[in-house]
Amino acid sequence: MLAGKRILLIIGGGIAAYKALELIRRLRERGASVSPVLTRAAEEFVTPLSVAALAGANVHRDLFDLTAEAEMGHIQLSRAADLVVVAPATADLMARMAGGLANDLASTLLMATDKRVLIAPAMNVRMWTHPATQRNRAVLEGDGILFVGPNDGDMACGEHGPGRMAEPPEIVAAIEAALGAAAGPLAGRHVLVTSGPTHEPIDPVRYIANRSSGAQGTALAAALRDLGAGVTFVTGPASVPAPQGVTVVRVETAREMLAAVEAALPADAAIFAAAVADWRVANAADRKLKKDGTGTPPALSFAENPDILATISQREAGRPRLVVGFAAETDDVIAHAAAKRARKGCDWIVANDVSPATGIMGGSENAVTLLTAAGAETWPRMAKDRVARRLAERIAEALA
Ligand code: C5P
Repeated sequence: MLAGKRILLIIGGGIAAYKALELIRRLRERGASVSPVLTRAAEEFVTPLSVAALAGANVHRDLFDLTAEAEMGHIQLSRAADLVVVAPATADLMARMAGGLANDLASTLLMATDKRVLIAPAMNVRMWTHPATQRNRAVLEGDGILFVGPNDGDMACGEHGPGRMAEPPEIVAAIEAALGAAAGPLAGRHVLVTSGPTHEPIDPVRYIANRSSGAQGTALAAALRDLGAGVTFVTGPASVPAPQGVTVVRVETAREMLAAVEAALPADAAIFAAAVADWRVANAADRKLKKDGTGTPPALSFAENPDILATISQREAGRPRLVVGFAAETDDVIAHAAAKRARKGCDWIVANDVSPATGIMGGSENAVTLLTAAGAETWPRMAKDRVARRLAERIAEALA
């Protein structure tokens, strides 16, 4: 499935570097060619000779290697690949990527490339959970860097927790997904998914939000990825972690979400599962609001947010072939959803009853009715990831 694909593999200096050897072997078995790059620190863990032998290719080690520069400069090296993979990605490499440093061959290639970059972080659990690394992770996700792992488990340093590098088969699967080379009916398709709530600021420390956990949108993005789609996942501040192997774009407000969605087009399909705030505070303060001692609360006024689903559905140029909205209703579910489908101009609406008695909002199950041009289909109540799988299959059929 990776036949003819060229992977630029940057091996960072961590104990997990030995797994990069198996990764090279598996990639070559699938027909990919691997151009390996070792950081100075990586050479302390694996030898250039064993990497070169397994890759059947020269190992690139030094930015100022003049022979290499004459034959293939670092710019060209970074672009000749179909995908750049960093495994293991150490805390230090992540920090340098997030900061835009280019002080050795690996970091220069990462800055110079015009291809997608997938990283497999590996580090001690405290280093992974350190606020600096988490800040860098968020920056890198925002830059469109793809992540695989880290996993939870026992670490070489004797501690336990998140920080173990993903296993080579998982990294191979993430590489296939990133290249759209995964098998599956959605291979080669780009699908956009919005998810989670939005936060609409009142002042710098307060905001208006809703109870959406992001669970349904997250499950949907994972199901679409599993069918081979390249997924861009635009998410508000959700309480469940974003899926792996998709491009994650984090936003806070409805207006940021619309901008991120427009920037992610073109797409073959767009699924709007986010619980977008209908209104934002029009008079949001740029300083923290204070009690004034008189007992009078501040008066908030509201402005309507853009309707992202309607905006994209009604685009003249570049409208995704299939646009799907959700309708969370507490009464007259199907009638309201059908009216919404017509009003917004989307192709399908996934309607669900979110009255508190159902426990659906924030829960793990969903009971939905799918409304299309052909009519309404009510599905039995099932786990949100089964709803997601079924919907992803229907999307694949529609795009086939
Ligand atoms: O109008 P309502 O919020 O009920 O519509 C729900 C659908 O519209 C969902 O698919 C939601 O993601 C989308 N939506 C949106 N932008 C808004 C409001 C809702 O994309 N501002």
